[in-house]
Amino acid sequence: MSFNLLPAKNGEEPTMQFLLEVVDILTNYVKKTFDRSTKVLDFHHPHQLLEGIEGFNLELSDQPESLEQILVDCRDTLKYGVRTGHPRFFNQLSSGLDIIGLAGEWLTSTANTNMFTYEIAPVFVLMEQLTLKKMREMIGWPNGEGDGLFSPGGAISNMYSVMIARYKYFPEVKTKGMSAAPRLVLFTSEHSHYSIKKAGAALGFGTDNVILLSTDERGRVIPADLEAKILDAKQKGYVPLFVNATAGSTVYGAFDPISEIADICEKYNLWLHVDGAWGGGLLMSRKHRHKLNGIERANSVTWNPHKMMGVPLQCSAILVREKGILAGCNSMCAGYLFQPDKQYDVTYDTGDKAIQCGRHVDIFKFWLMWKAKGTAGFEQHIDKCLDLSQYLYNKIKNREGYEMVFDGVPQHTNVCFWYIPPSLRGMPDGDERREKLHRVAPKIKAMMMESGTTMVGYQPQGNKVNFFRMVVSNPSATQSDIDFLIDEIERLGHDL
Ligand SMILES: *Cc1c(COP(=O)(O)O)cnc(C)c1O
Ligand SMILES: *[C@@H]1O[C@H](CO)[C@@H](O)[C@H](O)[C@H]1NC(C)=O
Repeated sequence: MSFNLLPAKNGEEPTMQFLLEVVDILTNYVKKTFDRSTKVLDFHHPHQLLEGIEGFNLELSDQPESLEQILVDCRDTLKYGVRTGHPRFFNQLSSGLDIIGLAGEWLTSTANTNMFTYEIAPVFVLMEQLTLKKMREMIGWPNGEGDGLFSPGGAISNMYSVMIARYKYFPEVKTKGMSAAPRLVLFTSEHSHYSIKKAGAALGFGTDNVILLSTDERGRVIPADLEAKILDAKQKGYVPLFVNATAGSTVYGAFDPISEIADICEKYNLWLHVDGAWGGGLLMSRKHRHKLNGIERANSVTWNPHKMMGVPLQCSAILVREKGILAGCNSMCAGYLFQPDKQYDVTYDTGDKAIQCGRHVDIFKFWLMWKAKGTAGFEQHIDKCLDLSQYLYNKIKNREGYEMVFDGVPQHTNVCFWYIPPSLRGMPDGDERREKLHRVAPKIKAMMMESGTTMVGYQPQGNKVNFFRMVVSNPSATQSDIDFLIDEIERLGHDL
């Protein structure tokens, strides 16, 4: 029983025994994750899991359960989950299972502390400062100067950027609220992740004041459209505040032309944010970092190491070029946490810069991975993933039964394509074909999940019916896994 474990008297022995058994479950899971004969998932519908399966029951109990049952619960929780580290899991921008990162996460949970003060997280706070500086150097800000924080994800990092921009131009909003500001408008790509609209709504701008920018056929913002929309907004008496350029859009993997957008932002005195949640990792690659040229002119950058760099969830940074503004925007100087008269340099109490109070330690696993791989290791990882997606692109671009969603080599690892089953191949383009094609990807995906062999995402975009979006960020994937995915799509989709 759990009451035999520490801190119980004589609890060391049962505690060690219990933890070793847990470690045994975890390491078995890790081994199997990399074994291609293991399925990616064992799919069950919500009602099946809620009803309970063979001794695994989600109901909470009034009475303590045995440690044997607790171990079964641990094992089954993993069993009915999805192996996001499996070499054939391509469903999400974050995938893979990095062993050093995993060890980092274990250590983090063991330390169980909070990032808000140096007082209780001295080592982690310094690691965070140092890593953020290194990231700012890679962005190209002079001497890595500036500020930043790890936040609970790219959507939150993006929200920070909007808050800081507003504080920069209209600091009185902090105390007086939005009535102290004119009607402010934000600009972002029509291909934007929905997080910008969310930020617009949550921060009181209103989604109507988030203006969407037209993109070219590859999903890149057209700078001339930005300028036209800025002028249009000004003419209506609105105040343009913020432009969000994307480095690696979620669906197409498009990189907006940052330099040209920066020129326009300078001309009209707008805040430039670069959302590199997905594409930021390419800064680590000498071969691919040119895709982010101009990022050094941004006022703020979102960069998620938990996506392209394979750091375990969560790990996302908001980086800011101007020092002090993050604190200016968010600090409330709570006397019970941030006493100014501590015995150490209290600028290391980073908690007041955050919109959260408590903050999880996201830095350690990332710092440890960087130590273990070196910058060179991240570069290899990124180059390898981009090579693999190029392999996929070359394989299907002229293959019978495939159509690419946009022409040309993808800029990121996103390869967007339709699989056309034989029954649709001769059919003339029109509503009937579109309706049928729209149903193909969801059907294949459902069968894929039932058979548990692989996972890949799909979605519609604008007037384009459902297509597959393949992404590679998993370092364990190889060309044979890409071949497998294509075989599987054809096996499952052939008779549709
Ligand atoms: C994933 C993504 C986000 C959101 O990041 P989370 O960490 O999931 O909150 C924002 N922008 C882009 C471009 C993304 O791909
Ligand atoms: C910026 O745009 C990108 C995609 O184009 C989107 O993912 C992100 O959420 C947007 N962020 C902000 C703060 O506008």
